[in-house]
Amino acid sequence: MSQLAILGGPKTRTEAYPAWPVWDQRDIEAVTEVIKSGRWGGFPYPGPKTAELARKFAEMQGGGYAVPMANGTVSMEVACRAAGIGWGDEVIVPAYTFQATAAAPMSAGAIPVIVDVDPSTYCIDPKAIARAITSKTKAIIPVHLGHQMADMDAIMQIAGKHNLIVIEDCAHAHGARWNGQGAGTLGHFGSFSLQSSKTLTTGEGGILLCRTPELAAKAASIIDCGRPHALGGGPEDDSMGFQVGGNYRLSELAAALALVGLQRFPAQAKQREEMAAYMDESLSEINGVRVLKRDPRHTTRSFYRYMFAIHPEEFGVEHDVLCAALDAEGVGCWVGYEAMHHYTLFQPQKSKLAVPSAFPEYFAFDEMNLPEATRACEHEAVWLDEAVFRSGVGGVDDAVTALKKIQEHAKELAEASQKLREQYGK
Ligand SMILES: Cc1ncc(COP(=O)(O)O)c(C=O)c1O
Repeated sequence: MSQLAILGGPKTRTEAYPAWPVWDQRDIEAVTEVIKSGRWGGFPYPGPKTAELARKFAEMQGGGYAVPMANGTVSMEVACRAAGIGWGDEVIVPAYTFQATAAAPMSAGAIPVIVDVDPSTYCIDPKAIARAITSKTKAIIPVHLGHQMADMDAIMQIAGKHNLIVIEDCAHAHGARWNGQGAGTLGHFGSFSLQSSKTLTTGEGGILLCRTPELAAKAASIIDCGRPHALGGGPEDDSMGFQVGGNYRLSELAAALALVGLQRFPAQAKQREEMAAYMDESLSEINGVRVLKRDPRHTTRSFYRYMFAIHPEEFGVEHDVLCAALDAEGVGCWVGYEAMHHYTLFQPQKSKLAVPSAFPEYFAFDEMNLPEATRACEHEAVWLDEAVFRSGVGGVDDAVTALKKIQEHAKELAEASQKLREQYGK
């Protein structure tokens, strides 16, 4: 009988990794309190829980003016609008990220210009940003992907030189710090998702950190149907007048859950950070595994999922088969996102979105050469579930043991790989 669980052998880890989201009596009490208060929704904006969340979240990240809202996609659209970025403007985004990073500027009418990532971090490559700048470029959206942060020193330098807005996509980086400074406070905006898989969650939600009270007031107005808001997203100030907006408010019920999540967050983040360091060390002993760069400027690694790369030629299989094998061993993992230029959503011939139709030359994906993102997305990246790190040394050890086992039986896995790919491939 095979030793590999995917081929009928015994599982490395039989105990389930801990579930997410974590909750206890405090969440029930917080929601109950809001229910009894009768103030459930987000109007008038901000409600007391939302205002408390804004203050406490900005405090945790170490700066900025926080505007809580519906999710971490509209937060990037709102950032574009608040910065005056719109129809026909170019916004540089990385090729390795969730589609929201490119869809959000499109919703503001802007064109996402997709550039390649740095293979050592999987985050946007500053050299590729520099090459993509034109007279129409108005902003950069670096993504702090997985457990990494983009090179914010280089990005802010380029942005300063070309007078560009920087919107950090921090959907994966709550609590992370670069040179001691919180993610989302280095650029002009920091966009956070509070969606259910994220490390601070309300089920659905988002927070936009703004560099100035003026930008926060604009953002608050845009998400509150255009109502005028005073600086910092405070109470209405009629002197500012109305602007075009929608309803992207966060509800008080959701804000109450996020406030309880914030109480748990520091201990969870500390454990993740310690276990990520242990994982780096443990993985570096496995042949065929490439641990991503640990940049010393990334001073706090608070993260969403942990990424590493395999050398498919050494494992004898590609990442999709390896992930299926790891999953069968009881270790939750994922192959990660598709390369951005392969998302069908943006193909002008398949999409009715205004931006691809109006600017088809930007969406000629077949002509795009993005080798690093393509390699990561189609061959080598493996994303380990956050729960692995929340289960302490034993959880990490099990993941590493499973990977070593797969490596020892790589030949057998490779022989079965065609069949497995049909069964499990993406
Ligand atoms: C990198 C990235 N950016 C943006 C988002 C969008 O956040 P939301 O789902 O809250 O809209 C997500 C995740 O969902 C994400 O992973």
